[in-house]
Amino acid sequence: MHCSLRKQTKASSTPLLKVENLHKSFRGLKALKGVSFELYRGEILGLIGPNGAGKTTIINLITGFLRPEEGAIWFEGEEITGLDPEEIAKKGILRTFQHVQIFSGLSVLENVLLGLTRKTERKIWHDLLNTSLQKREESSFYERAEAILAYFGLKKWASLPAESLPYGEQRRVVLARAVISNPDLLLLDEPAAGLSPQEGKELVSLLKNLKEKGFSILLVDHDVELVLEVCDRVIVLAFGELIAEGPPSLIRKDPRVLEAYLGEENA
Ligand SMILES: Nc1ncnc2c1ncn2[C@@H]1O[C@H](COP(=O)(O)OP(=O)(O)OP(=O)(O)O)[C@@H](O)[C@H]1O
Ligand SMILES: [Mg+2]
Repeated sequence: MHCSLRKQTKASSTPLLKVENLHKSFRGLKALKGVSFELYRGEILGLIGPNGAGKTTIINLITGFLRPEEGAIWFEGEEITGLDPEEIAKKGILRTFQHVQIFSGLSVLENVLLGLTRKTERKIWHDLLNTSLQKREESSFYERAEAILAYFGLKKWASLPAESLPYGEQRRVVLARAVISNPDLLLLDEPAAGLSPQEGKELVSLLKNLKEKGFSILLVDHDVELVLEVCDRVIVLAFGELIAEGPPSLIRKDPRVLEAYLGEENA
């Protein structure tokens, strides 16, 4: 592809993301009870755990959608705890949501272009789509968007309303929208949810390819096999606490992990 998707790799032993002792409660319910972990540049870190374990809450805390009662979050050695979502996005941390967020009424291309708002620092997405932009700026946006669409296999649908696409393709639109601005850290909340086995396989190769290009990813998913296949390391959350951490080969047979999931099946 002709756009530069490859990330610059800065050699550093500082974790890209460091999360320390996060606590969060909702109306007395302790959703997170002291969660700490690190994510290094260029790795895909998996975060798995049964329903309600607190996975989305962790993403919400990192991205500033929620604030922790206790604990701290550092990004590239700088503390970001309590910053607004917009400030955190500007630092290069982007997320996708557990439920697909497609802007209906907009085409696939427009949906992907919306991801450029961080780079252009335009707060209102309309700015990207109306004619007030300089022609040259606009054409470079479109060039990049087209390259991204091709990379995600969405080019043939570029001008169709995004909501008319099959669900699996809509999930790819959302990923393309996150990747277009070249984030330093991508937080993916259940990107495989609702995908067919074939679409799941395509997602695996897409994620592996993003890793090869140097992207750093926190991957939350219920599809444990997918997470174990794609990730360098995996952390396991149950009832708001990390119960295991390690490479996929060890996580696969960790009795605490098996128990957490068996508990879910019995429930
Ligand atoms: N905004 C909120 N208000 C009240 N309770 C919440 C809120 N967000 C999360 N919770 C509760 O906190 C706990 C952790 O929720 P969270 O969504 O983080 O879990 P999860 O691991 O992402 O689950 P799932 O796998 O079902 O997506 C759950 O008991 C949930 O009901
Ligand atoms: Mg969740």
